[in-house]
Amino acid sequence: MCGIFGLITKKKDVPVAKLIREGLQRLEYRGYDSAGIALVHDGKIECRKDSGRIADINKDGWFDSMEGSFGVGHTRWATHGPPVAKNSHPHLDCKEKIAVVHNGILENFQQLRKELSERGHEFKSDTDTEVFPHLIEEYIEKGMDLKKAVIETVKQCKGAYGIVVCHADTPDYMLVARKESPLTIGITPGETTYCASDIPAFLPLTKTAYILDDDEIAVLYPGQVEIFDIETNQKRHRDPMTVQWSMDAAAKTLDGKEYKWFMHKELHEVPRKIREQFKMPQSDIDAFAKTIMDADQVFITAAGTAYYACLAGKFQITRFGGPYIQSILCSEFKDHLPEIPPNSVVMAVSQSGETADTIEAVRYARENYGAKVCSVVNVVGSSLTRYSDHVIITTAGPEIAVASQKAYCCQVSALSMVALRIAELKGEMEKDEVKKYHEALIETGNVCDEILKKEDNIKSIAKAVSEKTNFYYLARGASMAAALEGALKIKEINPKAHAEGYAAGESKHGPIALIRDGFPVVFVAPPDETYDRLIGNVMEMKARGGLIISVVADFDEKISELSDYTIEVPIKNNKYAITMSAVPFAYTLQILAYHAAEINGFDVDKPTNLAKSVTVK
Ligand code: M6R
Repeated sequence: MCGIFGLITKKKDVPVAKLIREGLQRLEYRGYDSAGIALVHDGKIECRKDSGRIADINKDGWFDSMEGSFGVGHTRWATHGPPVAKNSHPHLDCKEKIAVVHNGILENFQQLRKELSERGHEFKSDTDTEVFPHLIEEYIEKGMDLKKAVIETVKQCKGAYGIVVCHADTPDYMLVARKESPLTIGITPGETTYCASDIPAFLPLTKTAYILDDDEIAVLYPGQVEIFDIETNQKRHRDPMTVQWSMDAAAKTLDGKEYKWFMHKELHEVPRKIREQFKMPQSDIDAFAKTIMDADQVFITAAGTAYYACLAGKFQITRFGGPYIQSILCSEFKDHLPEIPPNSVVMAVSQSGETADTIEAVRYARENYGAKVCSVVNVVGSSLTRYSDHVIITTAGPEIAVASQKAYCCQVSALSMVALRIAELKGEMEKDEVKKYHEALIETGNVCDEILKKEDNIKSIAKAVSEKTNFYYLARGASMAAALEGALKIKEINPKAHAEGYAAGESKHGPIALIRDGFPVVFVAPPDETYDRLIGNVMEMKARGGLIISVVADFDEKISELSDYTIEVPIKNNKYAITMSAVPFAYTLQILAYHAAEINGFDVDKPTNLAKSVTVK
């Protein structure tokens, strides 16, 4: 939520403003209602900001033509105050010497703002952020240097922040500080230093990075970084890490083909990303499996798509002999669990590793009740990894489209590997049986490759239903996760339509009242133990005029015969392949949603009102 990108360099003739603007555009998935840049030039701050998308604001090179040797930019997802120019970041102090950008929410900003106003500070925006430059200004007036002033300022602030501070009178460095909001630092040693909310922003420029921890402040010099503890002001040693993601992960090109949307490119990456997932370290899978088996109680939590990956994963774990796992949305976690029993494990799933509600849930369980935390995370070094006892890193690579897809496929694949390891360790299933399930799971990448070959068929179905404004997605058992995920995808990126994922058996207890001639009902129908009962639900919907779209195995006969449109998932006709088909079935629905949105002309990568990482509670 909100993207930050800053840069300080000693290299001459660098188009600083353009580089910052490009970095911000790589972060636009974090927020895209307004944007701004502040540069330090000749002892002054020049600040330009406005509402709208960066490309529109910069249409006549408005950002690119700014002059300055260093500075910072921000792309906003509004929290405090509407998305208008005055609320866009950066925000300045009264003398316009200090520029601050912020990602997060300050809880005590009203009190601070009141006190600052009483002391004569003039506020120009409705934001919580604007208290930062004014507080820093006051501390500098009291004689502190910039670093000390920022430290004293953040000590006054309650809540979450990732901030970058530039001062017109300190041309040699800028400062970043964080608490509960992400901030990463990229470096070309001896030359240029970058700061950003997410690594993809500087990925085309460097792969050498530092991750800032909570309650740390860093001084960014050109090509050099010093990190300090905010509480003690003690210097902290930190080795840089090399980012493993490929440089072109931040571009829309794949195998030499340029895609119109990141989501489309990322959907096409799914087969290879899943194959990489299956090569994850055995020690990580073991740690998860053993921790889960040793626990008295296991919970699983996440938000949005990641939560549906939890549902798919918990189903597999229980099916293969693991304990029953209680799934709870992370935003409901604390309220549903006023106490957590001893020897509990909380599994958490997150693409970003920065979702505020997910982090709050695991911290609550860990810090108050000593629960162990096992998390499945896509971003190395993200906050969630730091609150976890064991981590499985998903191999999706940067997921730029706001609508998650390849991350989901990797998360479910990883959790399925854990499920099979539990089966192995428990020893209740014949070794040969487990091996056959494992072989079927490993086939997932190939199955997804085959699905892509049928993309034109999925697209034609998307076209046929593109005018529809309501959808049901129905399923039973293991496929519930896919139904919920398919419906969420439609809601997110094709906002012309409302879609609801529902348990098929439950649909006659209410939802069926809406069915009229031509009302689209998508059935997720693998030929598993629920298949025959699902036929009954298809018949019920058909009898009332429902337009039946079914996602079935390619050897299916019965449900496809009852359907108006059918998407065939090419799996083998045996129990191993059927049991391991959670990812392929969900994947087809992600592709369907993509094409519906694209046909309807929506901004597929940046859906209205959404941001990629929800770092506010
Ligand atoms: O980064 P996370 O996986 O923790 O994010 C969780 C949800 O915000 C996320 O899955 C969201 O629902 C996506 N936009 C879904 O496509």
